[in-house]
Parts: sequence; structure tokens; C-alpha cells
Amino acid sequence: MTPDAAATPARGATGVENPLREGSITLRAADPCTIVVFGASGDLTHRKLIPALYALAREKSLHPKSAVIGFARRPWDDEAFRRAARPDSADLDPHEWNRFAASLFYRSGTFENAADYATLGRSLTALERERGTPGNRIFYFATPPDAYPTILEGLRTAGLVHDAGPEGPWTRVIIEKPFGHDLASARNLNAQVHASFDERQVYRIDHYLGKETVQNILVLRLGNGIFEPLWNNRYVDHVQISVAESVGIEGRANYFERAGVLRDMLQNHMLQLLTLTAMEPPSRFEADAVRDEKAKVLRALAPLSRDEVIARTVRGQYGPGAVAGVSVPGYCEEPGVGSGSQTESYLAAKFEIDNWRWAGVPFYVRSGKRLAKRATEIVIVFRHPPYALFRSAGCESLEANVLRLRIQPDEGISLSFGSKAPGPSLHIDPVRMDFNYLTSFGADPPEAYQRLLLDCNLGDSTLFARRDEVELAWEQVDAIAAAWQDGVPGLSKYPAGSWGPTEAERLLTRDGRRWYRL
Ligand code: BG6
Repeated sequence: MTPDAAATPARGATGVENPLREGSITLRAADPCTIVVFGASGDLTHRKLIPALYALAREKSLHPKSAVIGFARRPWDDEAFRRAARPDSADLDPHEWNRFAASLFYRSGTFENAADYATLGRSLTALERERGTPGNRIFYFATPPDAYPTILEGLRTAGLVHDAGPEGPWTRVIIEKPFGHDLASARNLNAQVHASFDERQVYRIDHYLGKETVQNILVLRLGNGIFEPLWNNRYVDHVQISVAESVGIEGRANYFERAGVLRDMLQNHMLQLLTLTAMEPPSRFEADAVRDEKAKVLRALAPLSRDEVIARTVRGQYGPGAVAGVSVPGYCEEPGVGSGSQTESYLAAKFEIDNWRWAGVPFYVRSGKRLAKRATEIVIVFRHPPYALFRSAGCESLEANVLRLRIQPDEGISLSFGSKAPGPSLHIDPVRMDFNYLTSFGADPPEAYQRLLLDCNLGDSTLFARRDEVELAWEQVDAIAAAWQDGVPGLSKYPAGSWGPTEAERLLTRDGRRWYRL
């Protein structure tokens, strides 16, 4: 992806070329750098960041001189941080882990205290000298979002943000979602970020973009001659994007009560899936060219009017039920949620993209917690052939051809089409051609955070959200949130373990369509 790719491929632990980069355009060695993780004692650091960095170190994708400094309030020392950071995974190689853990350091401090940033700055300089790194830095914001402005200000006043341009050491910042709470707060946050950082230093993370199968949307469309010619309103009837989760809110009532699925999933992951599915081919496969095209899709989605929100969106909340045979409480009974909560744990919506390619093709999206199972899929439903040739032979209704992009958990792609069933009479049955990631490539795709951390290190922001994308997505969300705040449409209950409220079915049956089973 990075155009100035040098010819040094990253090497895997066995000395063979690293499969993560093999065959990709980014054949560049990672720069040595120090990664400062704010919020180092939190869940995200333990569950995602450290395992991803460890995996990168193991496959030699991380420069051996690189180091991590955890920064948080807890009064830990380096050893305590290393102990807490150790992944729970049973197949951890203790020798490899100890080698990696020696590059983990910890500084205790509060985000509000200027002196703590000064101390952090001294530690950074000392560590860079000791390990012989040129001063490249990544600041990772893995804290609750309310802390972002304070940390930005702390870094700025302590003079910790520098960037000497292409020749010298660089500083980059990775910012976790949620990026703001609405358009106004996202704009404010962007202004605060840009008081210290140039856009090319900013990496707004959306972990869906790091998923291999999400990246494969573009490869499928643009790396194969047969799909792109069909990818438009001449051949596509409609698109369904489903992100179903079987989990509930996992103890995050405090955050989720303010976010709901609208802000937690639609603003970022789902609109990202939609833009990748709908965007025009970029002129080059590099960060700004790709993101320009994604932003154009968001611009072509006119924010919904109040009447459209009423007609085209569904909001739901799970009641008690059973998921995979296990009884679970309803949303309002979750710890930290009040009995009268109006927060949606489910949404469905119908979007229209006002451009040449997609005019008249609805994009239906849905996402919910405590649904029957975990599955993320993009379903492209094709139009029927122009003439019902087989009707005269008794084949009244044919199933539409359907291309399913299975993002997770059973990663793959399948195409269903009609085939003559054996026998003397003409019977057309749907059959499937299947590609499965695991069977074709012999391994599960790597973790999203692994890829994204490496890309940031390589200076490749293709898989990160740009300022305009984030703000345009908030415009959509704000339009929906404004109507929902007035209680329209009403909140529909669905039993945990079901496929969501019946109103979501109606959103499609009204148009003569139905959701495809996940
Ligand atoms: C996060 C949301 O961004 O994505 C969670 O905050 C959600 O609520 C999660 O569960 C889903 O991610 P994944 O990778 O499990 O599909």
C-alpha cells in the first residue's frame, strides 16, 4: 500500500518471508519506535494491544529495538506491568514472551498532571538513547474518550509531539473509537487533535478495517475481472449488511447507555462496511485515494429527514430470553442499566446512495446485541434475468443470485445460483459455490489490531478513518439520533436470542424483500 516500498521484506520467525506481508505491496521493514499506551492498565491493552504487539514481535514484524511504555494511574513498576500484560492464552511460548516482555516498560501518572508528562518525556528520551532508536513515537489512546482532550493537551504542553518530516523521526497518534459523541463533539475533538498533529500523523482506528475479510471486499471487487462489471444498479437489486452479536453489553452499561448501537456500531463499523462495498475504484491503492472514494459515498448518502427516519429505521431493545440455550436477562436488567432505559441494542435502517452507480439500490443494514448468533455478513442480491424463460416449463419463481461476503466468524465468500435439479422435469434449485478462508489458506486470518498497529508503524493510514469520513458519518448518525430522541419510531422489544424486532422484517417485506438468514 505504501508506494515507496523498499525491497526489504519482513521475515517470519522461521526466516521465511512473513506471510502477513508476502504478496502485498508493502514490502517495507518497520521503523524502530516507542509506543506509549495511555490506559495501559485497561481491558483493551490487555486483551488486544499487547497480544497484537507480541504477535508482531514474534513474527519479526516489529523492529527489535522497538519498545512499549504503558502509562496509567496504577502504581505499577515495569515488572507489575509485564505480569499484568501477559496474555491468558494457553499456547503462549514462555521463551518468546519473556523476550518480548523485556521491551515493556511502565510509568505511573495521571492524565491531568503536567509533571507526569515531563517525566514521561524524560523516560522516552532515556529509553530511546538506551535502545538506540531514532525517536519515532506512537501515542496510543486506549483510555475512555473523555480523557482524549486532556492527554492531547498534556502531550502538547510537554513538547512531546514532534515530526521532522519524511527524513527525521516521526510522531503518530492512534485514537480509539468512539471519536466524539455527535458531529459537534467530533469536530471539536478533531480541532484539538489538529492543534498538535497534522492529519498524516493521525490514525483513527476502526478495528473492522483491520479484519482480513473486510480488506478482501476491495480485493474481491477490484482484483477480479468478473465482479466489478456487475457491481451497480443494472445488476444489483439490493444490499444487506448485517452485524449480529450474541453477546450483550458485557458490563459496559456506563458507555453503552450513552452510545446505543447507533453510535457504537453504525457510526463506525457499519458505515465503513457500507462505504467499502459501495465506493468507486480509487485511482491508486493508497491512503488518500481510497479514503477520497469512501468519503464520496458518505457524501452521496443524504442525511435522513425526520420522516425518513420514521419510515426507514427500526430501533429495538432486547428483553429476557435465551441465547444458545442459556437464559439471559433483558437489557434493562443488565447491571448499571435503569428499568426505564430507552437505549437501543438493535437497529435496522434503509439507506439510499444518491449517485450514478447505486441509484435505486437500497442498502439495508442491521446490527444488534443478544441476537441468535454472532455473524457479520454483506449480502449482495442480484436482479433476476430480464426474461423468465423457464416460466413456461413450470418454474414460476426463481431464487435471486446471491453473493455473500462472510466477514466473521466463518470467514469466506459464497455465490448461490440456480441449477437444474436432476430428473426428467425442469426443476431449478439454488446451489452454492463456496470459498472458505481456513480451508483455502490453512489458517485463520490474523487479528485486526496486529495489522493496524503494523500499518501505523509503516506510516500507512489506508485502513484508518480520515477526519472527513468521521465527520460525515456523524452527520448520518445525528440525523437519526435527532428523531429518535423524540421517541420516533418507538423502541421495539425483542427477546434475547431472536433475530430482532418484527418491525425489522417489515422494513424489507414492505419492499417485497426479506432478510437473508445468517
Ligand atoms: C466494538 C463495540 O467496537 O465492536 C462493541 O464497541 C462490539 O460493542 C464490538 O461488540 C464488535 O467487534 P467484533 O470484532 O467482535 O465484531
